[in-house]
This record gives sequence, C-alpha cells and structure tokens, in this order.
Amino acid sequence: MTYQKNILCIGAGYVGGPTMAMIACKCPQYKVTVVDINPERIAQWNSDNLPIYEPGLSEVVSIARGRNLFFSTNIEKGIKESSIIFVSVNTPTKTFGAGAGMAADLQYWEKTARKILENAASSKIIVEKSTLPVKTALAMERILTSNGNGVRFDVLSNPEFLAEGTAISDLEDPDRVLIGSRETKRGISARDELVEIYANWVSNEKILTANIWSSELSKLVANAFLAQRISSINAISALCEKADADVSEVARAVGMDSRIGSKFLNASVGFGGSCFKKDILNLVYLCRHYGLNEVADYWEGVVRINEYQKDRFVLNILKAMFNTLAGKKICLFGFAFKANTGDTRETPAISIAQKLMEENAELVISDPQALENAKNDLRDIKGEITYIEDPYKAVSQCHAIAILTEWDLYRNIDYEKVFSKMKKPAFVFDGRNILNHKKLFDMGFNVYSVGRPPLTHFRVD
Ligand code: NAD
Ligand code: UGA
Repeated sequence: MTYQKNILCIGAGYVGGPTMAMIACKCPQYKVTVVDINPERIAQWNSDNLPIYEPGLSEVVSIARGRNLFFSTNIEKGIKESSIIFVSVNTPTKTFGAGAGMAADLQYWEKTARKILENAASSKIIVEKSTLPVKTALAMERILTSNGNGVRFDVLSNPEFLAEGTAISDLEDPDRVLIGSRETKRGISARDELVEIYANWVSNEKILTANIWSSELSKLVANAFLAQRISSINAISALCEKADADVSEVARAVGMDSRIGSKFLNASVGFGGSCFKKDILNLVYLCRHYGLNEVADYWEGVVRINEYQKDRFVLNILKAMFNTLAGKKICLFGFAFKANTGDTRETPAISIAQKLMEENAELVISDPQALENAKNDLRDIKGEITYIEDPYKAVSQCHAIAILTEWDLYRNIDYEKVFSKMKKPAFVFDGRNILNHKKLFDMGFNVYSVGRPPLTHFRVD
C-alpha cells in the first residue's frame, strides 16, 4: 500500500491517541503512526481494551487501525519514515529545582527533540501538539539545528483544544484549529501543509493561522479563561450560601447576557483535570519571569479560589454533620475529574478524600470508570477506604453521600432505595448540583448543595 504522506505522533496519551485516530479515520490516504516509550500503553492501543475511556473512541480506532493507523514502540523507525511529526508528550508541572510547582517540566519534550535529531535523515515538519510555554518552539529549533547535518526542520505550533469526555466530537467538529508558524517562506509553506491535512474534514474558516508565539500563548490563555469562569462562579457560590441566593439562578441570569454566555458557569466542587491548574501556573510563571507581577497575581487567584472551593466543600460537610466525621462512613459518588472519563488527574476528589480522611471518616468510593485510578491515587492514605462500583451497595450503612462527578448514572438512580440503606439522619452533599434537591428532601435526606441554601429537617432554634 502506498500512502500520500507518512505522519508520526510521538506520545500515545489522551491527546496523541484520539487526535491521530481522527486524522487516520478522516484521511485514509495518509499513513498515521503513533509511538510511545511505554510498551504497555502501545499494547493496549493495539488491543480491544484501549488505555483510555472516551465515548466514541473505540469506533474511530476500529475504522482505521491496521488500515492506515498504527501504534508502535519503534520511535526511531517512525521518525525515519515520516515527513510530519506531531509531538504530544506530557508537559507536567515541574516538581524540582527552579520554578518547581509552577513552571512546565520540559524534560520529555526535550528528549523527543533530541531523538528526532538523532534519527532524521531527511527534512521534517515538527508540530507542537503538547501545551507549552511561549517560545518553546525556539528552543526546539535550536536543538534541531545543533548538529549542522543539513537536515531542515520547520517547527509549527498546533495546540489541542479537545476536552476529555467529548474528545471525539471535539476533534470531529472543532470550534477552531489553530496553526502557528514562523512568518517566513518556509514557515508558511510548512503551515500550508498542515492546513491541508485538517482541511480534509474541517472547514477553511475554522482553520486559523497565526504567528507561532501567539499560537503557543493562545492555548494557555484559552485554558486560563475557561478556568477563570469556573472560579468566578465558584467564588459567587460562597456568597450565595451566605446570602440565601441560588447560584444556578444567578448563573442563568448572568449567562443569558450574550456578551457573557452561558457555558462554563456550573458551580462545582472545583475544577480538576491534568491541564487547567498546570497551564495557569505556567502562565503565572511566565508573567513573573517577565516581571509582570500584577498580571501573575491576577491569574494565580483563579487557582487559589479553586483550592478554597475544595476546602469549603469539606468544611461544609463537617459543619453540617455536627462537627465530627470520626468513624462516619461517607460515600463518594464519582472520583473522575468530570463525567465520561476515567481520568483522575488533579480531580477535586483526591484532595476531598484526603481531607475527609484527616477527619478520621471512613470512605466508600464509587465510580463507573475511575476506580482503578482512584485506588492508585489514594494508595498512601492510611485508614478505611473501600471501592465499590455499584452505587446501591456502596451506600450501605453510610451516613452521607458526596456527589463529586456529574455522571448521568447518579442522576438516574433510585434514591428511595439509597435512602433505605443509609444510616439516619442521611445527608447528601451535591458538589455538582445535579440532583433534584426538593425530591431528595421530601424523601427524608438533608440536602446540601454548592451555592444554594441547604434543605434540612433539623429544627432551627
Ligand atoms: P499523557 O500523559 O496521557 O500522554 C503523554 C504520553 O507521552 C505518555 O503515554 C508518555 O509515555 C509519552 N511520552 C513521554 N515521553 C516520551 C518520549 N520521550 N517518547 C515517546 N513517548 C513519550 O498526556 P496527555 O493528556 O495526552 O497530554 C499531552 C499534552 O497535551 C500535554 O502537554 C497536555 O497539556 C496537552 N493537552 C492535553 C489535553 C487533555 O485533555 N489531556 C488536552 C489538550 C492538550
Ligand atoms: C479542558 C478544556 O476544556 C479543553 O479545551 C482543553 O483542551 C483541555 O482542558 C486541556 O488543555 O487539557 P478538560 O480538562 O478535559 O478540558 O475538561 P473540562 O470540560 O474543561 O473540565 C475541566 C474541569 O472543570 C472539570 O473538573 C469540570 O468538572 C470542571 N467544570 C467545568 C466545572 O466545575 N464547571 C463548569 O461549568 C465546567
């Protein structure tokens, strides 16, 4: 079989796997290979048991895998054979040295650049898919031109905007595709080659081109703006609880202003996920690096409010349950950082579980997709934690339920049955405001939500 183009992606994670599966599915004329240093991950991509849970992903993979989509550990061969290389390795927050806890850890990124340099015998377009600090492309260019062997590399920035849980529809019908390049003849020609790939299924008006630094920065800013909306509404939820207002009503009234818009105004236990916190801290670090301390403080506030919201949720539980949780059994409904994913990176559930355990509570954790990750996340915590997927079994003899992930499953279960299995007085703490609180109250539950007055059966003297 001859293909029009050989495309490689280094990094077979939440972004590399689904993104390349979509390109392969939409463009049978290209050969798409995804490589990773982790052989287990590659074996899973080659099996029926994909390494990530994402609605619609297995259908897309099964269309293209073996036809023009391949998963492999042979990174060297992949580099040699390809003319376009996407780099989608992880870029976590640095945990050591200068910038620890703030800056991006670029070690995986740099190793990839060196690997490309060692193995490339012909010119290549290198596409930054990972989220990176501004000016990373410059560092990439410097590494790639360091051995003077005459092989040309053109570096492009093409940040990914997909959200987990909706990755396939986001990839199939993106709001926009952003491609940043150097504004040189070669840069523009490389950019046009990448535009041509996306144009196989994305309409031209949605493919934005920009200068490479604007493109790198736009990714951090998009995540910062999204997270900022959540921290804004969560900050207001604290005020609503004091002022007997209802945050959902406030969000609705505010969001109907077309200048503001209604999305991303759901008050919650706080945002999680592998990127929001990391990318904002990265932005904060960049601002401080450039001496823009006021700007850095402003964005850091988004992360501070998020920590406050998680703390507040636990303090509300403690206060409502008569200021002691010792020996009480609390069932967490949901552990994933959002619905429709098994991903638990930076999920608010981790710090909430830790804090509840510090109060000597006993935990029962339930989640349809994230229990394995939850066990791993909480493995070092001492105390009584059990993991039970079936929500009816999980609530048995519990004093309280805390809804931490907005899975549809938890909207639709029989709460009469749940109530009958729990210790009394039974409490529900709805950290996602997804349940019918009045109905639960009428069944006998004491119901606490985020940013709404509680509904309790206790006498107020
Ligand atoms: P991930 O951890 O799921 O996947 C990264 C993969 O890269 C891992 O499988 C790892 O083994 C592999 N890897 C690391 N070093 C390697 C090397 N030297 N050679 C080959 N493979 C290597 O990460 P992810 O969630 O896919 O995120 C990747 C990037 O995309 C990050 O920069 C992230 O900020 C960004 N991003 C993530 C999302 C998301 O929803 N997860 C969305 C948009 C952007
Ligand atoms: C987010 C962005 O939405 C993507 O555009 C981006 O590509 C991605 O980060 C990334 O760079 O990794 P993701 O983290 O997968 O995607 O999921 P979101 O839907 O953004 O949710 C993030 C967190 O915010 C979740 O914990 C979610 O429950 C929470 N959230 C979201 C709220 O608390 N309230 C809301 O109104 C919306």
